[in-house]
Amino acid sequence: MHWKVCLSDLDYGKREQDAVEAVLKSNWLTMGATVARFEQRFATLLGVRHAIFVNSGTAALHLANRALEIGPDDEVIVPSLTFVATANASLYCGAMPVFADITSEDDLNISPVDIRRRITDRTKAITVVHFGGYMANMDAICRIANEHNLAIIEDAAHAPAASLHGKMAGTVGDVGCFSFFSNKNLPTGEGGAVVTNDDSIAEKARSMRSHGMTSLTY
Ligand SMILES: Cc1ncc(COP(=O)(O)O)c(C=O)c1O
Repeated sequence: MHWKVCLSDLDYGKREQDAVEAVLKSNWLTMGATVARFEQRFATLLGVRHAIFVNSGTAALHLANRALEIGPDDEVIVPSLTFVATANASLYCGAMPVFADITSEDDLNISPVDIRRRITDRTKAITVVHFGGYMANMDAICRIANEHNLAIIEDAAHAPAASLHGKMAGTVGDVGCFSFFSNKNLPTGEGGAVVTNDDSIAEKARSMRSHGMTSLTY
């Protein structure tokens, strides 16, 4: 396919080719030892208890919404500037995404001031996007979530290993979601991750990612 502007310009070399070849030679192409090792290293990098890998950032967001038991009658506040998967993940659960504006032309992340305006009796969660790798104002957003007893999902698709004030993107709220799509900072082709410090969210996400099969041995 010929694109006028490339979707991404991947910088892969011999190490990556060798790693792919090793997987091919192992005869185990789906979730296996390599994924388990990647999960462990990613969790260590972020300093988080659980990293659960899935097939896309969209799937990660879907599982995060499901694990928080977001459903019909619920509203989830999402930024108006993002990829559509951020909002669709709540729709998949029957909930209504409610769009909050971004802060300004200089801060493309969701505005805490506008989040407050969008809260209703039905609001269950806020999904924050760390747009373009810049972290949203998590101090203000956590304060709002605490005041109104709301869950926080971090869509950190653009922000693996981004940090602000010593806190890593994806680890500040209840659950963080990453994408490893080919135009992302850490591309595997297709892929995503759910990260959390909450054992119950991790257990639900781990179960739902593979039809209830949680105890795979490699
Ligand atoms: C902010 C954001 N969230 C979620 C996604 C979805 O990730 P994926 O393409 O891996 O499903 C993307 C992908 O472009 C994104 O930019």
